[in-house]
Amino acid sequence: MCHDGTGTYKKFPTDCGHPAYEEKKFGGTTYQTVDLGNIARNIKKSSRNTCGACHFFGGGGDGVKHGDLDSSMFAPDKSLDVHMDVKGLNYNCTVCHTARSHDIVGRKYSRAAPNTHRLALPEDTGLRIGCENCHSSRPHKNNQNLNDHTDTVACQTCHIPYFARGGIATQLDWDWSTAGKHTADGKAIVKKDSDGNVIYHTKKGTMAWGTSLEPEYAWYRGVMTYIQQQDIIDPSTVVALNRPLGSYADRDARIYPFKVHQGKQPFDAESNRLVVPKLFGKKGSGAYWAEYDWTKAANKGMEAYGAPFSGSIGFIETTFYSPLNHMIAPKEASLACGECHSRSGRLAALTSFYLPGRDRSGLVDALGWTAVWLSLAGILIHGVLRFILKK
Ligand code: HEC
Ligand code: HEC
Ligand code: HEC
Ligand code: HEC
Ligand code: HEC
Repeated sequence: MCHDGTGTYKKFPTDCGHPAYEEKKFGGTTYQTVDLGNIARNIKKSSRNTCGACHFFGGGGDGVKHGDLDSSMFAPDKSLDVHMDVKGLNYNCTVCHTARSHDIVGRKYSRAAPNTHRLALPEDTGLRIGCENCHSSRPHKNNQNLNDHTDTVACQTCHIPYFARGGIATQLDWDWSTAGKHTADGKAIVKKDSDGNVIYHTKKGTMAWGTSLEPEYAWYRGVMTYIQQQDIIDPSTVVALNRPLGSYADRDARIYPFKVHQGKQPFDAESNRLVVPKLFGKKGSGAYWAEYDWTKAANKGMEAYGAPFSGSIGFIETTFYSPLNHMIAPKEASLACGECHSRSGRLAALTSFYLPGRDRSGLVDALGWTAVWLSLAGILIHGVLRFILKK
């Protein structure tokens, strides 16, 4: 897929990543036979098209998972991405995501998934891409003040003022608890908003979308923690499925921009663990998309996964953090000082440190102004005295 020079490689939707080896139909679409021999004889270097064929559609569709990687990035202009701009630098993904023996640089999870097929990516090699690799950490020629920020504020924070700017909406909310509704005569329901984004689907529940959005900000040192199925969760709170690590005190951490996706998903209400429901399958297989019964789907899914399920389903609210690294805007569109250094600016929620212009101390302010007024009084008295004595 990464090196297909013919553009003919397509996965068959239900064959676990395999293409159609003979012509097959699915959901009204005919999938042509993929000639692997022909593809092997016509390999090319990877491109935005080959990498994007997977990464722009992560999470099940265009822009669903990432807020900064969607189909608008096949051929972006400069206002969308200064590096991948087709009329400018026209970077391929691999200009930044360099690779040594297929260890692609730039991953943030320490464990590769799935565990038994290590083809997608190897273990974390510890190699990271930084904007600094090309630009240095003092990239601003005429503004040293900006360079003084690069130890606490990531480049991405100032240079990705809004995400999902290419006109493709990114998914912000996915509520599985409302799935399973049908019309009175038993038909599936699909509702779309005026831009064509699915906002209700019988199979998937309720969804919300957005374009040109302000990121959320968090301290981040490039490492994520995440929960796994066997971890005990607290259903009375919003469960963070993953979480960026870092704090103000952490010297390696900087303020970083994120898309934070909200969700509502089934869990085991007795053991307080996540469940792995079986979604896809025929009637009688227990699959949710055939029978619309979460308990059956969880029973089947957990059986296949190999972990116990109590039989009691509940729904929890979740969040998922995706760091923003693409859609770097032209320099004129970078965040202005006042976007952060103000009372209700973008960093209003990061309260663990003192930020000039946002925070104040009544005592320090009072001492400061007292000093100002005392100096002024001193100068005035001094001046008046000299004026009188000169006469
Ligand atoms: C100008 C440099 C640059 C280009 C070009 C680029 N990336 Fe990235 N990408 C980054 C950086 C920096 C990171 C963050 C890496 C890290 O945290 O270690 C990143 C992270 C990622 C991630 C990890 C998920 C995430 O959101 O952090 C994926 C997936 C990814 N890039 C895919 C792509 C694809 C696909 C393309 C081509 C369409 C591409 N990148 C082009 C710089 C780039
Ligand atoms: C066949 C689909 C597919 C193609 C093509 C593909 N990737 Fe990936 N990529 C994945 C999957 C799936 C993962 C997650 C794997 C994992 O977690 O182990 C991934 C993970 C990544 C990550 C790490 C993300 C993270 O959050 O840690 C980066 C970076 C990345 N890919 C870049 C690229 C680049 C650059 C290309 C093009 C040369 C590319 N990928 C082509 C499917 C693909
Ligand atoms: C505090 C916000 C902020 C941070 C952090 C920041 N930049 Fe900038 N950057 C700006 C602004 C604002 C401009 C536009 C400056 C101008 O037009 O004078 C700019 C301009 C630039 C330019 C254009 C060249 C120039 O001299 O104006 C480059 C390249 C650049 N930044 C790269 C980076 C990289 C790489 C990092 C991280 C090491 C980074 N920036 C961190 C705000 C920031
Ligand atoms: C592979 C090298 C490379 C990497 C990695 C890279 N850049 Fe660039 N970047 C360039 C080049 C080359 C230019 C064009 C020359 C210039 O303006 O310095 C550029 C230009 C820019 C500009 C100026 C755009 C304008 O309006 O003229 C900004 C801002 C910028 N980069 C930010 C970033 C940020 C943020 C990252 C990290 C996500 C990053 N760059 C990663 C090579 C890179
Ligand atoms: C992305 C948000 C952001 C933007 C935009 C931003 N700053 Fe800051 N600024 C910060 C943070 C965070 C600190 C560091 C506070 C600390 O280290 O305790 C800081 C610190 C400062 C300081 C204190 C001295 C120092 O260097 O630590 C000054 C002065 C300052 N900024 C001026 C500016 C000016 C002028 C601009 C516009 C050119 C600007 N800032 C843009 C977030 C921002």
